[in-house]
Amino acid sequence: MIVRVPSVLDTAQLASLRALLRTAPWEDGRATAGHQSALVKHNLQLPQSSAVARQASEAVVRALECNALFISAALPRHVYPPLFNCYEAGMAFGDHVDNAVRQVPGTHHRLRIDVSATLFLSAPADYDGGELVIEDTFGTHTVKLEAGDLVVYPASSRHSVAPVTRGARLAAFFWVQSMVRDDADRGLLFELDSTIQQLTAAGAGREPLLRLTSCYHNLLRRWALL
Ligand code: NI
Repeated sequence: MIVRVPSVLDTAQLASLRALLRTAPWEDGRATAGHQSALVKHNLQLPQSSAVARQASEAVVRALECNALFISAALPRHVYPPLFNCYEAGMAFGDHVDNAVRQVPGTHHRLRIDVSATLFLSAPADYDGGELVIEDTFGTHTVKLEAGDLVVYPASSRHSVAPVTRGARLAAFFWVQSMVRDDADRGLLFELDSTIQQLTAAGAGREPLLRLTSCYHNLLRRWALL
């Protein structure tokens, strides 16, 4: 399931985040790549230990924590602290799959990576190329969103970032260990939750809404891993 979450950051939040990132000590993105990925990864990344990265990361997490659509789509159990990357002209990240397990830096805590996410920080007009290309069972999906928008997709999918040919593409990216491990199960819950929201907004009756809501929670009760 690929879900676009619009406006995770508003204009003011974006401006302050971009100003913060301008002061950042960027390094070669291969620092966090596995062996296979390192062969096809060509971008800049913020060292996770830098003060700027920590501050920017916390700002993104705060925005995610109050975003109902993100929570409904990802059902987060743990969110890996967001990282930041920048693709300048000539940079790209070839086809790869994200690692299944990651240790949270500075802790012994390991996450199973169920969901991958990219938060676009540059306006699409500011660069050419740089599409996130995701392959799933339904084919290939090309994603290039407005600044402040987020895309979440199954971490199990093969994906790449197309070469940037002009300007610079700034993004935050992170992973989620979901309460619901299976993408198809998570997709059903998301569909059910979205339908309940729609019916509520349309003024549907209390009894059928209660029955649907009960289905939602009882499915989540079956599937949630805490
Ligand atoms: Ni990736």
